[in-house]
Amino acid sequence: MLPLGGRNLRAGTLTPITPAMSAHARKRLYIKTYGCQMNVYDSERMADVLAPLGYGLTERPADADLVVLNTCHIREKATEKVYSELGQLKRLKEARAAAGGEMTIAVAGCVAQAEGEEIMRRQPAVDLVVGPQAYHQLPELIARTHRARGERLAADFAPQTKFDALSPERRPGGVAAFLTVQEGCDKFCTFCVVPYTRGAEWSRPAEAIEAEARALAARGVREVTLLGQNVNAYAGEGGLAGLIRRLARIEGLDRIRYTTSHPRDMDQALIAAHAEVPELMPYLHLPVQAGSDRVLKAMNRAHTAGGYLRLIETIRAHRPDIAISGDFIVGFPGEREADFEATLELVREVGYAQAFSFKYSRRPGTPAAALPGQVPEAVKEARLHRLQALLEEQQGAFNAAQAGRTLPVLFEKAGRRPGQLVGRSPYLQAVHAEAPDRLIGQIIAVRVESAAAHSLAGRLEAGLEIA
Ligand code: SAH
Ligand code: SF4
Ligand code: F3S
Repeated sequence: MLPLGGRNLRAGTLTPITPAMSAHARKRLYIKTYGCQMNVYDSERMADVLAPLGYGLTERPADADLVVLNTCHIREKATEKVYSELGQLKRLKEARAAAGGEMTIAVAGCVAQAEGEEIMRRQPAVDLVVGPQAYHQLPELIARTHRARGERLAADFAPQTKFDALSPERRPGGVAAFLTVQEGCDKFCTFCVVPYTRGAEWSRPAEAIEAEARALAARGVREVTLLGQNVNAYAGEGGLAGLIRRLARIEGLDRIRYTTSHPRDMDQALIAAHAEVPELMPYLHLPVQAGSDRVLKAMNRAHTAGGYLRLIETIRAHRPDIAISGDFIVGFPGEREADFEATLELVREVGYAQAFSFKYSRRPGTPAAALPGQVPEAVKEARLHRLQALLEEQQGAFNAAQAGRTLPVLFEKAGRRPGQLVGRSPYLQAVHAEAPDRLIGQIIAVRVESAAAHSLAGRLEAGLEIA
C-alpha cells in the first residue's frame, strides 16, 4: 500500500529511510522497514540511537557495516519476505568476510518478537534479534555481539523502559513526522498477531509526547501523525482529544493526524475535537474489517456494521468534509457470499476516500487459524478483486470531487518532474504543483486542476500562504 508516497505505510510494504549521511559517520547503517507506520517511527529512532556510535545511513546494503531489518508479522507474506531477504544478506556478509571485512545483521520488529529463536535457527548469519520494545538496547547489543556471539536475543515487553531511554531529540527527515504515543493492543481480534508481537496497550505520558513534538517543531516539522496500534485508546491525561488540543498549541505545528483507530474507542471528546480543533486534519482511518455482523462477531471486533455506520454518521455530523479511510479483510474463515456482499454494501454506504484491503492470512497461534470453514484461495482472490474495484472507484470519485477547489497544501519535497513540488492536502491526498523549492515546509493554497486515481495536480493560487 503505498499510494501515499511512503508515509502512510502499512503492513507488507517497505520504505528505505532517507539517508542523511553525516560527515562524521564512520560506519554505515542500512535499515529496511516492513509493516506499519509504527515500524517507520521505530526505524528512525533506531537510526537515532545508533548515530552516537558513529553510524550514518546508507541506501546500499552491500556498503553497510550494520544491516537492520525492521520486520512485520501481520501476514504470512510479510514474514516470508524477511527470510528471503536474510538469504541475500547472508551472501553479502560472506562476500564482505572474504574481503577481510565484517557485516553485522540485526533483525528487529514484530517477526523478531514472534519468532526470534526460529530466526536464529533458520539463519545463522543473523547476529542479533531485537524486539520492538528493546531496540533502545541496540548499542549495547551490538557491542556485545562484537565481543562474542551469544546473548543475541532481546525481546521484552516494557515500552516504558524503551521510551525512558530514548531522547526527545530527533533529526526528522522532512516537514511531516510520525510520533508514537501509544503501543500495543488489548483487543485480540481473532485474526491478528499484534497483541502478541507488541504486547498490552500502553500510553506514553503527555509531557514526554509534548517534549518530542516541540523538538520536532523546532526542527521545522509542521505536521505530526500520532501513532498507535490503537491510538484512540490513548489513556494519558485527557485522552487522545486532550493530547491533540495540547499539541495544537505548539507554535509551528500546524497539522495533526492520528492513526490507527478502533471504532470502539472513538469517543465523543475526539469527535468534538474534529469539529473544534483547526489543526486536526479532516481525515480518519477507522478500520471496520467486514460488513457482516456474523463475521464481525467471529473476528471479535466488538462492533456491528450498524454501529459503525452510526458512528460514521455522528462523525460526519461534526465534520461533514471528513475523509474516511478503512481496512478490510476478505475470506475470513466462515465468510459466505452473503457476508461478503454485506461488506460491499457497507462500503457503498460509507463512501471511502481511501482504503486498504487484504485476503485473510492464517497466522499460527491466533484463534481464527483454528476455525473451521477456511476459505479457498481462489474465492479470497475473487472477493478481493471485487472489493478493490469498488474501493478504487470510490477513491477516484473522492479525488475527482476536489477538482476546481482550492486546498491548503503542505509541500514536502521535490515532485517527479523538475520544477514541481509535492505535498499533502488536508485529506492526505498527494498534490503536485509547479512551485519553487523555497515553498517546501509551507502551507500554500493550491487550485486543483485535475485528479488521478492516487493524486491531484494543481497550480498555486497567487503564491499565497494561507497558514
Ligand atoms: N490496530 C490496527 C491495525 C492492525 S494491522 C487496527 O486495528 O486497525 C493492519 C490491518 O492488517 C488490519 O486492520 C487488518 O485489516 C489487516 N490484518 C491484520 N491481520 C490480518 C490477517 N491475519 N490477515 C489479513 N489481514 C490482516
Ligand atoms: Fe489487531 Fe484488532 Fe488489535 Fe487492530 S485492534 S491491532 S486488528 S487485534
Ligand atoms: Fe506489522 Fe507489527 Fe506493524 S506485525 S503491522 S509491524 S505492529
